[in-house]
Amino acid sequence: MSVPLNLVREDLRDFAGYKSARSETLHGDIWLNANESAWANPADAQASCRRYPDPQPQALRGRLAQLYGCATEQLLIGRGSDEAIDLLVRAFCNPDRDAVVVTPPVFGMYAVCARLQGARIIEVPLVDGETGFVADLEAIAEAAIAGGAKLVFLCTPSNPAGSAIALADIAVLARRLDGVALVVVDEAYGEFADSASATTLLAAHANLAVLRTLSKAHALAAARIGSLVADAQLIDVLRRCQAPYPVPTPCAELALAGLSDAALAQTRQRVELVKSERVRLQAALAVLPEVVRVYPSQGNYLLVRFRDAEAAFRTLLAAGVVVRDQRAAPQLEDALRITIGSPEQNDRVIAALRALEMAA
Ligand SMILES: Cc1ncc(COP(=O)(O)O)c(C=O)c1O
Repeated sequence: MSVPLNLVREDLRDFAGYKSARSETLHGDIWLNANESAWANPADAQASCRRYPDPQPQALRGRLAQLYGCATEQLLIGRGSDEAIDLLVRAFCNPDRDAVVVTPPVFGMYAVCARLQGARIIEVPLVDGETGFVADLEAIAEAAIAGGAKLVFLCTPSNPAGSAIALADIAVLARRLDGVALVVVDEAYGEFADSASATTLLAAHANLAVLRTLSKAHALAAARIGSLVADAQLIDVLRRCQAPYPVPTPCAELALAGLSDAALAQTRQRVELVKSERVRLQAALAVLPEVVRVYPSQGNYLLVRFRDAEAAFRTLLAAGVVVRDQRAAPQLEDALRITIGSPEQNDRVIAALRALEMAA
């Protein structure tokens, strides 16, 4: 049994899951085994939606594996990385017994999925220091071991804090938690970061899993295509726990087209533009007297503390700019998160916040 498989709930390790009509390898030219319609819907010009889809569309899976630098068998496609987070929690955590480690302030879905599964949530807060919010990896390891955690969620670059965790530190944590917990590295914003992906650590650390998504840099949030990259045997188990047909054909087709060489070249250009706009917006905001702090960011957003966050939020709204209010999150009682937009959109943000200065 592979290392991470030992950590999966015992009752699910050889769970067969639902046997769909699609999972049988049969041959024929008249398919009457899935109660599908014999005719395409009038709106389905290509007749691509009449039959249930391949549970893991092969061409897309291959392309994503190539993009993320892993073997096809190491990659599971789901409905956004949200689905992969949920699958991991359900497959690893026995309700009322096992725990997950999260590092607030952080993306809320890890705790939501844990709550839904009845898993305990162990919080190891990010530490707000001179370089920004940093994960205390020593405290994370100790809390995971002491608290019986099966999963440790690391968000890098971290949403909303913006900081990234060095690969070498992730490797040390994975080694320390070998046989104890799966370290899940959420790289939803990885394309905007300077460091390499944690998928490069997978060969050496079997208790590591990496989340990627097409929702951010690839601009396909509505297509709901996320990937989990991990040990092949673990992927196999999770696939059996997943819904029978998680990837709608129109979404798979759009995603594959969105990963063509030409589309990828444009995506990379836009990532570079976001990175340069991030520098420009950070510099423009940092000098405003109403701004207390702009955190350095490796993502496509900036976390900003204000003297009066309510006034900043209202001023931006009045200018038609909607940003994310972070004030309910721990340690962020005066903070807003501003996504990096187009240069024109960022100009609007700067102009609105300069106007706030004048009114103050
Ligand atoms: C850190 C992080 N992980 C995962 C997700 C979920 O992304 P998706 O389900 O669209 O792939 C988000 C979405 O905002 C996020 O910020």
